[in-house]
Amino acid sequence: MTKPPTPSDDMRWRAVDARMLRLGYSAGALIEVLHTVQQAFGYLDDVALTYVASSLRVPLSKVYGVATFYSLFMLKPQGEHTCVVCTGTACHINGASGILTGIRDRFGIGPKQTTGDDRISLLTARCLGACSIAPAVVYDGEAKGKQTVAQVIARLEDW
Ligand code: FES
Repeated sequence: MTKPPTPSDDMRWRAVDARMLRLGYSAGALIEVLHTVQQAFGYLDDVALTYVASSLRVPLSKVYGVATFYSLFMLKPQGEHTCVVCTGTACHINGASGILTGIRDRFGIGPKQTTGDDRISLLTARCLGACSIAPAVVYDGEAKGKQTVAQVIARLEDW
């Protein structure tokens, strides 16, 4: 079977194509390929999901299932800033759900959502590997531990 046509001549598809080629267009590489698309474009839209599904010969329903199951995949463009709240066991025990509630109350967004002004996107992760400093939050790629609701709100308000 031949590879489907690239969705557009956007150069970023070259990185995606190169990745799929290196991974042998294997259906087992689905998560890795979706990561590559997200890194290149910032999120996964219908065009990308359809292209990946046909390139790897995976049913589109499965690709959607994976993209919606994993909290780090975004189906819409992200905001200017990204906040990732860890909801793994250690962080959960140490107050992650309170942090999420605080963010919802103050900014009106839940996980995988972006504020109306496109400033802040909220994501969750299952474990950031920083359990000893739970609860952990990542602000634009910078991990901070032992976060309180007030600290998180203050940081996001700064944005
Ligand atoms: S559970 Fe949050 S860092 Fe491990």
